[in-house]
Amino acid sequence: MIVIKSPIDLEILLNKIRGNNKKIGFVATMGALHDGHISLIKRSKEENDTTVCSIFINPKQFNDSNDLEKYPRPIENDLILLKEVGADIVFLPDYSDIYPQNYIEPEINLSGLDNVLEGLIRPGHFKGVALVVKRLFECVNPDVAYFGQKDYQQTLVIKEIVRQFKIPSVIAVCSIFREKNGLAMSSRNIRLSAEQRERASFIYKMLLQLKEDVKSLPLKEALNKAENILLKNEGVQIDYLTIVNQQTLVPEETLNLGKSSVALVVVDYFGVRLLDNIYL
Ligand code: PAF
Repeated sequence: MIVIKSPIDLEILLNKIRGNNKKIGFVATMGALHDGHISLIKRSKEENDTTVCSIFINPKQFNDSNDLEKYPRPIENDLILLKEVGADIVFLPDYSDIYPQNYIEPEINLSGLDNVLEGLIRPGHFKGVALVVKRLFECVNPDVAYFGQKDYQQTLVIKEIVRQFKIPSVIAVCSIFREKNGLAMSSRNIRLSAEQRERASFIYKMLLQLKEDVKSLPLKEALNKAENILLKNEGVQIDYLTIVNQQTLVPEETLNLGKSSVALVVVDYFGVRLLDNIYL
């Protein structure tokens, strides 16, 4: 496994690899790796000759400096995990490598994808994600880049960037990787106690029930029932629970089952924001 800090060194190495007609897969992370990230890397390894994983905590996507400060940085453990899973290249840039002094922020228009849901709660967050993903893609120029479906809105933002800037990479959105009890894997899960983490299975159970309920109940009724299921649990506040169009994130009036809708949920559970979603 090669660890590289400088974008120029990375470009030289990747150009050699590409010159040998090898396919390059990419997994972008902010570190604090868990099995969800590892599953993305495994998929990239299956589908490509070389897998690059980046670790860069991007300040531009944090709208709360406290959150940025608190963000876990277990870099040594991350490198052990990456070696174990067989990542070929780890890209570990500094802030000045990604945003050098002469860096000029490109005009980015996210077509309204950044003004709803997570974007309302975390203003500026998706613009920050878009900026860093664009820069990381410039550095890695992957054939395929892998992102988790858990951050559903983020996957749409990334597809929009790729479309807008004509980036010649394929975006693969990988199914949510779950703990045994169904809780979606997230770096934030470690902030829950063992008992809370076990109980947090209620989120996925609610989504499965909602997927069943929308087949027979009017949408509003199914959503009310789902909210009540969530609120039965101690320590829960609902940030949002909504059923939206998979492409536009516009709330659905009626459902076209199996075609175009996704249910998105975010709860605050004992102070930890947990995201999940399910295709309907
Ligand atoms: O999902 C993440 O970990 C980050 O938002 C990403 C895509 C690596 C950009 O910083």
